[in-house]
Amino acid sequence: MENPHQTLKNIFTSYWHFLALQNACKLDIFDVISEQKYTFFSLKNELKLAEKPLFYLISFLEEEQYIEIKNDFFSLTQKGILLTKNHPESLKNACLLWGEEHLNAWQNLDFTLKTQKPAFENLYQLPFFEYLQKNPKKLENYHLAMCEYAHEDYKNMAEIIDFSTHKTITDIGGSSGVLIQNIAKKNPKINCILFDLPEVISIFKHQKKDNFDIISGDFFEKMYFKTDAIILSRILHDWNDENCCIILENCKEILQKNGIIYIIENLQNEQKTHLLSLNMMLMCESFERTKEEYQKLLQYIDFEIIDTKKLNNLQTILICKNEL
Ligand SMILES: C[S@@+](CC[C@H](N)C(=O)[O-])C[C@H]1O[C@@H](n2cnc3c(N)ncnc32)[C@H](O)[C@@H]1O
Repeated sequence: MENPHQTLKNIFTSYWHFLALQNACKLDIFDVISEQKYTFFSLKNELKLAEKPLFYLISFLEEEQYIEIKNDFFSLTQKGILLTKNHPESLKNACLLWGEEHLNAWQNLDFTLKTQKPAFENLYQLPFFEYLQKNPKKLENYHLAMCEYAHEDYKNMAEIIDFSTHKTITDIGGSSGVLIQNIAKKNPKINCILFDLPEVISIFKHQKKDNFDIISGDFFEKMYFKTDAIILSRILHDWNDENCCIILENCKEILQKNGIIYIIENLQNEQKTHLLSLNMMLMCESFERTKEEYQKLLQYIDFEIIDTKKLNNLQTILICKNEL
């Protein structure tokens, strides 16, 4: 049976666990252990770290099964391997992302609660995406983290939706391009386009293929190409209603007649998105919307949600069309 006193006490210090991991990632401890055999002292010397705090950190990592120690030598467990940068299912950048600015913003949640303005902007004096543009290392970390999530989240997209009726599909704000490249691979006859800001496109060394193209630009400005389907995945949840309407209007401009917009989001109320909504408010003055709220936004461009499909246990695909 739950002991409420103990439960609360555990919650108060639960961030210790995450920050221990995050700092181990920051210091590349998991990468270093994955590359060579280390004992405690050879690791300490390699990373030039202080003995006592490193001892406690390593003991914690062993206790929580991120590393194993056999005959004094360290190795990584299945969990620990996922925090190395080169693992195909790595979550190292995601781990790094949730510390730093996100953590600082969360510490200032009271500001957002009093003002309904993003604590992030109050702290850093810039909107989140402008801040990323001005800090190339942060921009890269953010998009590598998006890429790490995308591999898992979008792996079934091409099976769930039959895209074969489209000639061209564009992933607007597609970041690393994991989603649109999955679709391109499974649908060789469809012309697939990745669209994102130029600084983002240049992070990933994409190879253009016969049915995969890249266009860089800004979705708040007019886009100069045509497509008969658009994907907006985790885009609208970054913006307030006014900005969402501008994005939707610009998307409608490039859509061919009878074009489809696929909106992929975590729908508020479908699962526990309350803290996610608070996170969006802290960072971007936005929130996770309900299906009805998306429907209301879509009315602005005379679109309707004609169908919905579950993408995974968190995200839903809203299939939207101009019904006039
Ligand atoms: C939350 S990420 C989603 C990335 C990707 N769609 C996914 O689901 O993993 C938001 C994306 O919007 C892009 N973005 C932000 N502002 C933009 C702008 N003004 N024009 C084009 N893309 C923009 C970002 O670079 C980023 O790739």
